[in-house]
Order: sequence, then C-alpha cells, then structure tokens
Amino acid sequence: MKTLKIWDSATRIFHWALVINIVAAWYTIENRLIELHEIAGHCLIGLLVFRLIWAILGSRTSRFTHFVVQPFAALRYLNKSIRLQAHHQVGHNPAGGWMVIVMMCVLGFQVFSGLLSNDDLGFSGALSDHVSKALSDTFTQLHRYSFNALVTLIWLHLVAVFFYVLIKKDNLIKAMFTGKKTVEQAPVKPLYFAPTSLALLCGLIAGAFSYWLF
Ligand code: HEM
Ligand code: HEM
Repeated sequence: MKTLKIWDSATRIFHWALVINIVAAWYTIENRLIELHEIAGHCLIGLLVFRLIWAILGSRTSRFTHFVVQPFAALRYLNKSIRLQAHHQVGHNPAGGWMVIVMMCVLGFQVFSGLLSNDDLGFSGALSDHVSKALSDTFTQLHRYSFNALVTLIWLHLVAVFFYVLIKKDNLIKAMFTGKKTVEQAPVKPLYFAPTSLALLCGLIAGAFSYWLF
C-alpha cells in the first residue's frame, strides 16, 4: 500500500465551497432571503464554470479525460465494487465519475433555471427579462423540481461515499480534505499537478463571468 497525493487543493476547495453554497442556497430560500439566495446561486455559477475549465486544464485526477469512461466500463466497475472486488482508485472511480457528471448537470440546470425564475414579489433572476412571464413561471416550477432531483443525487452521493468509507475501508472523505489517499498501486505515469497560479487565473475568469451575469 502506498500513500499518494491525488487531489490538488483547487479541487478540494471547489468541493467544500460547493457544499457550503448549496446549503446556503437552501437555507436562504427557506428563510425567504431572496437576495442572499441569488448571491449563493451566483457563487455556484462561478464554481461550476471554474470546475469545467479545471476539468480541461487542471491536474490529472481532476480532468474529464481521467475520470469519464465508457458507461459499460462504469457498470462493470460498479458490479465488481458491490461484490467488494474493486481496488482503491487514484481519483474518481469509473462509476463515481458518472455520478459527478450527472450531479454537475443537475446543478447546472438548477442555476440556469434560477436565473430565469421569479418570486411573484418583484424579484427575478438575472436572465428572466429575456423571457416572457409565463416562461419564467415555468422555469420557477422547474427550479423547484430540479432541487428535489439534486437532493436525491446528494443522498445517493453520500450513501456511495459512506459505503466506501465504512464497508470498503477506503477513506475517500479524508482524501477530499487532505488530498492524500492510500492505494494498492501507484500509477505507472507520475500524476501531474497543475500550478496554483493557473487555478487562481481560472478562478478569476469564472468569478468574473458569474459577476458579469448579475
Ligand atoms: C442565480 C441563481 C438562482 C436564482 C436567481 C434563484 C432564484 C429563485 C427564485 C426567484 C425562486 C422562487 C422563490 C419563490 O418561490 O417565491 C427560487 C426558489 C428556489 N430556489 Fe433558487 N435561485 C438560484 C439558484 C438556486 C440554487 C443553486 C439552489 C439550490 C441548490 C436553489 C434552490 C431553490 C429552492 C429549493 C427553491 C424553492 C423554494 C420553494 O418554493 O419551496 N436556487 N430560486
Ligand atoms: C451538497 C452536497 C454535496 C455535493 C453537491 C457534492 C458534490 C460532489 C462533486 C461534484 C464531487 C466531485 C468533485 C470533483 O471532481 O471536483 C464530489 C466528490 C466527493 N464528495 Fe461530495 N458533494 C456533497 C457533499 C459531500 C459530503 C457531505 C461529503 C462527505 C461526507 C462528500 C464527500 C465527497 C468525496 C469523498 C468525494 C470524492 C469521491 C471520490 O473519491 O471519487 N461530499 N462531491
């Protein structure tokens, strides 16, 4: 067994900032703090845009090319994993990679529909002026439905993560905090980690985009 650095700090900060902002979006709407709800939503837009850029330019384990595999390979992996036969992975496992893609798509729809929503009390999302009131009302309804889908996926995500930690004794949570993980085999090619300055530049571009949308 070898302990390796597998996650760069940008990906770890992205993950925990995502969690904080989703909780903030939920809390603010529950308490009818619509302006703060919008801010949490725009922070999430920035995070999503950052992660998309990082999935192309970032460190190896954060790239789409590293964790998106053919759906059948993901199903085969899932089958092996449930029978406790799969090895500890460097980065997302083939099934987890698809889970990440689905979660990001639903979250993308959540913020997109939010931008087109209104609360019938004078507040409307930044893009809602570009559509009719009827279409904005439809997106408000879709925004509510998609939150239910997101919450279901988050529960599934947590069940999967705790399955790894408790049953497979593979502490993914610790790795998402420290960046380090114990694996059976080190990768043949050493992992590439992108420079922090590149992460800062990508973060700046993503932040500017989400601010411009406001
Ligand atoms: C720019 C982003 C966003 C904008 C502008 C926005 C705007 C809105 C608006 C106008 C409503 C309707 C309020 C009402 O029913 O009176 C709403 C509802 C809601 N939003 Fe967002 N939202 C955004 C992002 C998000 C995100 C990221 C989440 C969750 C992750 C979220 C979760 C919710 C929920 C759960 C409701 C339904 C509350 C209810 O009626 O029960 N929103 N949002
Ligand atoms: C709002 C709730 C959450 C959302 C939307 C969410 C979303 C995500 C996403 C998108 C990733 C992929 C990260 C990336 O590649 O950039 C991920 C990975 C991960 N998340 Fe979460 N997460 C949530 C809550 C949590 C919580 C509460 C925990 C810990 C208890 C957790 C543990 C993990 C772990 C360990 C990974 C890495 C999995 C692996 O090694 O493949 N997540 N999560």
